[in-house]
Order: sequence, then C-alpha cells, then structure tokens
Amino acid sequence: MSILVTGAAGFIGFHLSSRLLAKGYHVIGVDNLNNYYDVRLKKDRLTQLKQHNNFTFYQFDLGDYDELKDLFKMEKINIVINLAAQAGVRYSLQHPHTYIHSNLVGFLNILEACRHHPVDHLLFASSSSVYGANTSVPFSTKDSVDHPVSLYAATKKSNELMAHTYSHLFNIPITGLRFFTVYGPWGRPDMAYYTFTRDILEGRTIKVFNNGDMRRDFTYIDDIVEGIIGLLDQPPAINAGWNPSDPDPSTSKAPYKIYNIGNNNPVSLINFIRTLENIIGKQANIQLYPMQLGDVKETYADITDLYEAIGFKPKTSIEEGLTKFVTWYKRYYRW
Ligand SMILES: NC(=O)c1ccc[n+]([C@@H]2O[C@H](COP(=O)([O-])OP(=O)(O)OC[C@H]3O[C@@H](n4cnc5c(N)ncnc54)[C@H](O)[C@@H]3O)[C@@H](O)[C@H]2O)c1
Repeated sequence: MSILVTGAAGFIGFHLSSRLLAKGYHVIGVDNLNNYYDVRLKKDRLTQLKQHNNFTFYQFDLGDYDELKDLFKMEKINIVINLAAQAGVRYSLQHPHTYIHSNLVGFLNILEACRHHPVDHLLFASSSSVYGANTSVPFSTKDSVDHPVSLYAATKKSNELMAHTYSHLFNIPITGLRFFTVYGPWGRPDMAYYTFTRDILEGRTIKVFNNGDMRRDFTYIDDIVEGIIGLLDQPPAINAGWNPSDPDPSTSKAPYKIYNIGNNNPVSLINFIRTLENIIGKQANIQLYPMQLGDVKETYADITDLYEAIGFKPKTSIEEGLTKFVTWYKRYYRW
C-alpha cells in the first residue's frame, strides 16, 4: 500500500509519515521545502523520515503539474493525503499570492492527478479557520461556512468546494479534515505556542492579542495523527439519504465528507500561557495588543461525526502536550 503525503517535511506531514512508516506503509513524501519558516527544521524532520527504507522523497512544488504527473506515472499510489499548503492566517494578509499558488493551484493539480490516476481515497487538510465570522460554538460541520475572515480561510473553504466538485464529477472518494490549532514537538515556529516558549525561555516579551480574550481548541499532534490514520480505510460513501432541498454541507450524494478534527475542549489564551509558565518554570512578560486582522476570537470543534465514524477521542491534555513540546524544544535548541 503506497501513500502519498504532500507536505511531508512539514509539522503534521512529518508526524503522520513517521507513524505510517512505522506501520509498514510505503510513504511517498513530496515537499518544496520553502522558507516560510526555518528550512533546517524541515530538513531535520526529513532526515528522520529518510532513516526508513519504505520512505521515498521528492522535492518539488505542487504548482508544477508536470512533476506531479510524472510522479503519478512512476509510482502506484493508493491513497493521497494532501497536507502541503501555505499555512498561517496573518501571513496571508501580506503574501496573498503564495496562498493562491500553493492552496488553489497546488490543490487543483492534486485533484487532476487523482482524476487521471484513480486512488482509493484522497484526504486533504482544511482548517477550523473556515468557520470565520461564525460565533455559535461548538463549530459544527453542519454549519454554513460562507464568511471567512482571512484569505487563508477562503482558500481552505475553496479546497472543500473544489473537492466536492471533483468527487461529484469523477467519483473520487474525498475526505476533508478541518484541523483545530495543532501543536506538539517538531511543531511550527510561526505558531503562538512555539514563539511563546522561545520568548519565555529567552526572557523576551510575548505579544498577546485581543488582550488575551481568546480561546483555542488546541489539539495535540498524536491525536490528530490517530484521527487521520483511523480514516484511511474509511473512504466516504455516497450518502443516499442526502436531501438536496435541505443540504447537509458536510456530506453529499457524491463520495465526499468533511470532518472537524479538534480537541473539543477549548482553552483560554491566558490559561494556556499560565500552563506554559508552570512547565517552563518562569513567568512570561506579557504585552497586550488589540485583535489582529484576520483572527477569530474562539475555536471549538464539535467532533460528533468523527467519533461516530472511528470512535475519535482526543487523549492528550494541554498540560501533557505542552510538557512534551517544551521537552522537545529544549533538547532541539540545546537549552
Ligand atoms: N498546524 C495547524 O494548527 C493547522 C491547523 C489547520 C490546518 N492546518 C493545515 O494542515 C496542513 C499541514 O500544516 P502544518 O502545520 O504541518 O504546516 P507546515 O507549514 O509545517 O507544513 C506544510 C508543508 O508543505 C510544504 N509546502 C507548502 N507549499 C507547497 C507547495 N506548493 N508544494 C510543495 N510543498 C509545499 C511546506 O514546505 C511545508 O513543509 C496545511 O494544509 C495547513 O494549512 C494546520
């Protein structure tokens, strides 16, 4: 069984690939190793993956359709997990074109490749950010998500629409996963838990937006990986009971399904910082700022669907997850 993981040198792609390799799958990793954040971290993740002889890596950009076509001709691919994307909400205000290139053109190329080389299952990363201006919590996949508040979110919502179209037209079984603030060792240096840890350790001031009045459904990486793996052999079936006059947005007459994959237990930013301070053993110097453009106040996942499908139940508390992150951070940066 061969699984293509795009964004394999990224945070989630690395952890997912590691687990798949340990389970004996042949993992084909693709990544362009762009410099959105420290490339050394991406290369170090890859070094770990390359220790497995069931791992094959290709460095290219998903925007290059010829490269992707060649890959699908060369390798027999059973499952595709598309994680490659330009991530980050705030960066999308300054670098919009990167998002269109990687998230829309890149994803279209993945869909086209799966159209011409049928796969058993295509899974792709969406995001909790699609809930945008919604305030009714917990966020449910049954809610309408037509009010994104960042271009990043708009590209993720677009991915869901493009996926549904290809699923409908070409009968491709596609699952979209709305990830909720994923954190853990080997994480993303642009995310708050990472910069807070660095700044507290180095005695620098941390920037806290919306005066700390924010809540995030922080989800530990191992729980995310568990959820993705549980879904691999559960390609969505056509929902015969789907009612076009009262359409459930998360399912369809096409083999298409959208899930939330989150912790179902939001934590306030201030409690999050207090937990981090306790683990590090040092107080943070906090500077309060107003809400940032593109940000949302709260995220909170309703995970009923995923529980019903695969018994998904996140196991890692914020204390345990952050302790693992800080331990890794100190070792990696030799603190
Ligand atoms: N980490 C989170 O909290 C979170 C939350 C919601 C959604 N997501 C989504 O999950 C996916 C994985 O996120 P992550 O946190 O691992 O991010 P990441 O930035 O660590 O990983 C993405 C990887 O994709 C690669 N990449 C980007 N554009 C590419 C392109 N055009 N061609 C080839 N490779 C490309 C990057 O080099 C990177 O290694 C992304 O789609 C992201 O939008 C993540």
